[in-house]
Amino acid sequence: MIDIVTFQDMGELSQYLADSVTEEIVKNPEIVLGLATGKTFIPIYDALARELVAQEVSAEKVVTFNLDEYVGLASAHKSSFSFYMYEHLWSKLDFTPSRTHIPSGTAVNLEAEAKNYERLIQLAGGIDLQLLGLGVNGHIGFNEPGSSFQSMTRVVELDESTKNRNAADFDDRNVPDRAITVGLETIMKSRKIFLVVTGQEKAEILSKGLEKPDENVPFSVLLNHPNSTLLVDAQAGRLLKK
Ligand code: GLP
Repeated sequence: MIDIVTFQDMGELSQYLADSVTEEIVKNPEIVLGLATGKTFIPIYDALARELVAQEVSAEKVVTFNLDEYVGLASAHKSSFSFYMYEHLWSKLDFTPSRTHIPSGTAVNLEAEAKNYERLIQLAGGIDLQLLGLGVNGHIGFNEPGSSFQSMTRVVELDESTKNRNAADFDDRNVPDRAITVGLETIMKSRKIFLVVTGQEKAEILSKGLEKPDENVPFSVLLNHPNSTLLVDAQAGRLLKK
C-alpha cells in the first residue's frame, strides 16, 4: 500500500517534505537518508536547507546515500549528480563529507564499485528514510522499465527516453549511456519512503503504476512497501481517483 498526500503546488509540497525530514533528523541525528536528484528535488533541498538552518538542527551526524550517478562523470563535472548534491544541499549545511555517499561514475572497476556501494549501505544498517523522484517512464533511481524487483546496486544502460529528457542538463546534450544505480530490492528495504511526483507530464505513468506491481513500471514496486507515501501535486495527480 502507498499513502497519497496531494498538494496544490510545489511550494506547499517542498515545505511539507522539508518539515518531515527535519523532524526525522531531530528524532535521530544519525539517521541514514537515501537521496534523489532531478529538478523535482531542487526546491525541496532548498526548503530543507532553510528549515534546518532556521531550526538550528545540525546535519553533522546524518549519513546519506545517493541513488545514482552517471558512468564516466567525475564528481567535479557540472552535470554529475555529485555536483548537483554539492550545489543544492551539501554546501549549504554542515554535512560531514565522509558520511555523504554517492557511487563513483569514474571507478576503474564499475561492477566492484556498485557491489561495494551496496555493502556500504548494509554496513550503515540500511536506509532509514528514502526520498525518491519519478522518471517519466516510471523509473526510480535509474532502475529503468524492465528492472527486476529483486535488483541490487549495479551498472545499468539508460533508456533513450531518459537520455533525451536529461539532455538539457548537459552543455553538449550528450548524456552518458550508463549509470550506477541503487537497485529496487535495496530501495524496498528502506524503513520509510517518500516518492515525490509533480507536473502534468508524469500524470499518466503515475496512474498506471498505481494499478498493480509491474516490472515495466519500476516505481510500482512501492505498492508492496509497508511504509511508503506518495507526495503529489495537483497536476501529476490529475488522473488519480479521488
Ligand atoms: C533522474 C534521476 C531520478 C529522478 C528522475 C526524475 O534522472 N535518476 O532519481 O528522480 O530522473 O527527474 P526530474 O525530477 O528532473 O523529473
